Amino acid sequence: MRAFFAIELPGAVRAAAGAAAREAAQRARCLALTRVENLHATLAFLGEIAPESVEPLTRTVARALQGTPPFDLQLGGGGWFPPRGAPRVVWIGALAGNDESVDLATRVASASAEAGCNVDLRPPHAHVTVARARGRVPAHDLAELDAWAGRWAGRPCGEAFEVRRVVLFESTLARGGSVYVERASVELGG
Ligand code: 2AM
Repeated sequence: MRAFFAIELPGAVRAAAGAAAREAAQRARCLALTRVENLHATLAFLGEIAPESVEPLTRTVARALQGTPPFDLQLGGGGWFPPRGAPRVVWIGALAGNDESVDLATRVASASAEAGCNVDLRPPHAHVTVARARGRVPAHDLAELDAWAGRWAGRPCGEAFEVRRVVLFESTLARGGSVYVERASVELGG
């Protein structure tokens, strides 16, 4: 199964991030929106893992997160990856809780590697991918995206919320977009 660890977002925060993305996509037509129910902050992308490895993997991650307390995450600000060159992914970032999210991602990624996973991603900063570019981004769309990021600089997106757990999602690629199903979770502060 294809799997990744993520921070799940409360419904109201997903709705706010979805609205922010629609604001960008209305002007930059090359953008394809992430489905609102799929919005999350990736901590570590694992690629293919064996279903029977979920339990030992989760145990290893739980051990690595012992003593990691829950923290507040306030989404806000916007931008794209890669920061230079043609945008591929448009994101909403974090105004508070970024360092804690990066620390959490580092711990989850190294525990996953310890458990034998071929960890593919450790996000450089907390982000929620809200849209992806379809093909080449025309100059007009790039200018719109830049203006959107300018409007979102320092602007909160939804309410702050407490990150209390890390979720292992199974991702199934489907024609209408990926489907994510929770397969395991680890509580923080355990
Ligand atoms: P990102 O969009 O937050 O950067 C689920 O597919 C999540 O795993 C995505 O949201 C994406 O993170 C990350 N992901 C998917 N495919 C990936 C890949 N091939 N390499 C790295 N990360 C990937």
